[in-house]
Amino acid sequence: MLHRVPTQPRPGQKPGTSGLRKKTREFTQEGYLENFVQSIFNGIGGIQGKVLVLGGDGRFFNSEAVQIILKMAAASGAANLIVGCDGLLSTPAASHLIRLHGADGGLILSASHNPGGIDGDFGVKFNTDNGGPAPEPVTEAIYSATQTIEEYLIVDAPDLDLSATGTLYLAGTTVTVVDPVKDYAMLMEQLFDFKSIRAFLERGFTLSFDAMHAVTGPYAREILVNRLGASETALLNATPLPDFGGGHPDPNPVWAHDLVAAMMAPDAPDFGAASDGDGDRNMILGRGTYVTPSDSLAVIAANAHLAPGYAKGLSGVARSMPSSSALDRVAAAKGLECFATPTGWKYFGNLLDAGRVSLCGEESAGTGSDHIREKDGLWAVLMWLNILAARDMSVSEIMTSHWRRFGRNYYSRHDYEEVDAEAAALLIDDLRSRLDALAGAEIGPLTVRSAEDFSYADPVDGSVTTHQGIQIAFSEGARLVLRLSGTGTAGATLRVYLEQFTPGPDGLDHDPQDALADVIAVCDALTNLKARLGRTRPDVIT
Ligand code: G1P
Ligand code: ZN
Repeated sequence: MLHRVPTQPRPGQKPGTSGLRKKTREFTQEGYLENFVQSIFNGIGGIQGKVLVLGGDGRFFNSEAVQIILKMAAASGAANLIVGCDGLLSTPAASHLIRLHGADGGLILSASHNPGGIDGDFGVKFNTDNGGPAPEPVTEAIYSATQTIEEYLIVDAPDLDLSATGTLYLAGTTVTVVDPVKDYAMLMEQLFDFKSIRAFLERGFTLSFDAMHAVTGPYAREILVNRLGASETALLNATPLPDFGGGHPDPNPVWAHDLVAAMMAPDAPDFGAASDGDGDRNMILGRGTYVTPSDSLAVIAANAHLAPGYAKGLSGVARSMPSSSALDRVAAAKGLECFATPTGWKYFGNLLDAGRVSLCGEESAGTGSDHIREKDGLWAVLMWLNILAARDMSVSEIMTSHWRRFGRNYYSRHDYEEVDAEAAALLIDDLRSRLDALAGAEIGPLTVRSAEDFSYADPVDGSVTTHQGIQIAFSEGARLVLRLSGTGTAGATLRVYLEQFTPGPDGLDHDPQDALADVIAVCDALTNLKARLGRTRPDVIT
């Protein structure tokens, strides 16, 4: 029944910003998933007697991968696997289940916002017992296990029927199949004022939620429709599909353009939102208004006390370094500690665990709090609905009043996707080598105030992470950040983050690309990136 299958290391099984992501065709190669999963087990010191949560975003290969992992976990002596029905769990729901059951960790099958399908991407991420993405030392241990693996263990058994909740047995392992939505919905009810949101919707406030054919459809139906009374027609693309309907399940103005276009129409609903493949990202819109993720984070920091779960105030806040400093302005006004961390949710874990911060977010449409250890798309939607209901304002009124009070950080990210990896690395290395000489330099209309290769010393455990992006601040309130993506599966993606602060009260309603024209021009002058990458324009502007 137990098989020890000899194997050899596969090159490139190195977890990136968020777990191991590869083309589906690579992941589905015989033994590829098995190698990585066994390396997770080996890297964390074995799983004998342990309790693990397991589920994924339903993309192509999800069901097969769940069955393989269950058989491998049983072969390695796990005590209990807690699995979502049909092998489905959103990333936030998985994080919550790990914490709720005091599990030793969890495996989440997802490539997040990357497309799915046989020609799309697949991914596996390991989360630790705090419910959060494994920190660097753990991913390093897993990576080194992938380099020395000689065999994997699997039991020979028929596939389990995961279509209904209940308890199943596989070799000596108990498999508990749970409703993927119920516990998560209950958690949301504890954090937010469902009564007042419901009354707000009854008074005629309308909304549209685009699940992008990804995992949040059933969550949105249970919470927004069943518990809050929104109309079923408020849900768009709410049936999860293995290829996300051929779309790119990334909630931003480029990939969720249908929703954005609908929200810009005169007869648009009052509120629009979307989430990504595995449900941890969010996009917030009002009628005629797009809220950048960095602004959303700042607005939440300023208003979170209006939600019952946050009534006592925030302990501190954190953002990824490339995210705009709109958050810092709110933190300064409220006397809150504010941290800038490297890109990736795993860097928030220690701050959240230590109670140093209770709210955090990234410019890449990730927002969350200490309720779990992942970013959380529907959480952000409910937080906004709670704030809108409590203040009885429109999204655009909230934004205008926020900018009048704190000033506006115009912000945009320009992505150059699937560029030549060597050329992109050279561009960054070259800029890095010139940083010392840049301080004080005048480049066009801007003067360099500081230029650094960002590194982060974790204030909780003292660990230092280096080379996390080039950050150049200008005296005129502008900031430029360049870094290479750690989640791509082909070539390299160069991300250019652009920011310009305007204190107001004038100049608060420019088009962001116009407001950023100086810093965009300075970036071109500094890096000559278009010529070096052989591109005339960014592939994606958010
Ligand atoms: C991207 C985002 C980052 C996010 C990560 C996982 O990583 O930029 O903020 O944490 O996806 O969702 P990147 O591709 O930039 O390494
Ligand atoms: Zn995601």
